[in-house]
Amino acid sequence: MRNPHCQLPALYFRTAPNALIDTVNPESTPELRTIIDFIRYGASRFNAAGLTFGHSYDNAIDEATQLVLHALHMPHDLSPVYGQARLVEAEKRAIFELFRRRIEERIPAAYLTGEAWFAGLSFKTDKRALVPRSPIAELIESGFEPWLGGREVTRALDICTGSGCIAIAMAHYRPDWQVDGVDISPEALSLAEENKARLLADNVRLLRSDLFSAVAGEKYQLIVTNPPYVTHAETDALPPEYAHEPELGLRAGDDGLDLALRILRDAPDYLTEDGLLICEVGEAEKALCELLPELPLAWVEFRVGQMGIFVVERADLVAHHARIAELAAARA
Ligand SMILES: C[S@@+](CC[C@H](N)C(=O)[O-])C[C@H]1O[C@@H](n2cnc3c(N)ncnc32)[C@H](O)[C@@H]1O
Repeated sequence: MRNPHCQLPALYFRTAPNALIDTVNPESTPELRTIIDFIRYGASRFNAAGLTFGHSYDNAIDEATQLVLHALHMPHDLSPVYGQARLVEAEKRAIFELFRRRIEERIPAAYLTGEAWFAGLSFKTDKRALVPRSPIAELIESGFEPWLGGREVTRALDICTGSGCIAIAMAHYRPDWQVDGVDISPEALSLAEENKARLLADNVRLLRSDLFSAVAGEKYQLIVTNPPYVTHAETDALPPEYAHEPELGLRAGDDGLDLALRILRDAPDYLTEDGLLICEVGEAEKALCELLPELPLAWVEFRVGQMGIFVVERADLVAHHARIAELAAARA
């Protein structure tokens, strides 16, 4: 896997399990005194336990840092000069408890801290929705350029909004846009509502919807989506960390394209004449290109390379509608 952010883990972020997984407890480790000591020790234990990373950070040191600073009620960008600060007993116990839960229960660090950063914004995160990690954050921060190419946007739609991260981040950076975020899961939407309030995103409307069902008759210049795109086989083989996330946000058929094909089929009805669809399909990119070789999809180049996210114009979706509809119908 090339993608540390998306719905699947990167194999190279899964460290080799070590049979000698030490227990973590303060009594057996009096040598540990400082913040740096605990970060280093946590990272060592995580690696020895063979944890999978990739929900927020892609390595053991960053995850240990996240948990230590959370337990100490310190900001995530704490100056390194505090690294040598010594900890009191209660703080050590709080850190060890987080380390223990991360290792024994395989809970993603973001669910332990209840917070995930996305597009420079702090989102509440818990089991109601996937941990925000889509590379679409980078597109939001760059104002979707050069893809928008000067198009004027007044209305945008985020399908499969989950925690609301994409809809709310779009609305935050573009307060002049009216943004709709839709999801089929009432649990996800309740978390999205909390994030909307947390980030004062008054220009976001959240709706329960099976893809486009609740926005009949609406038109958007921009539709953005990170739908489920993990294949059945991949979902069944995911590391334990992923079992803490709602499967509804991951599983998407034999080739991962069940939802994406429905979105490609129906998007023209909800896009303005020159509207754009931006869609994440991750590793299902290959299957999509094989199914629809003629459809002109522009695969976005991110700072770290391609991440399985394409941009397509409404006109091209209309031109290829018959074939897309045929493929979508075959899996209904
Ligand atoms: C991969 S998650 C993306 C969440 C969020 N946009 C993000 O980037 O973190 C996919 C979301 O799609 C939702 N979903 C699954 N099937 C759906 C459907 N038929 N209609 C609307 N939402 C759906 C799930 O509830 C889940 O929240």
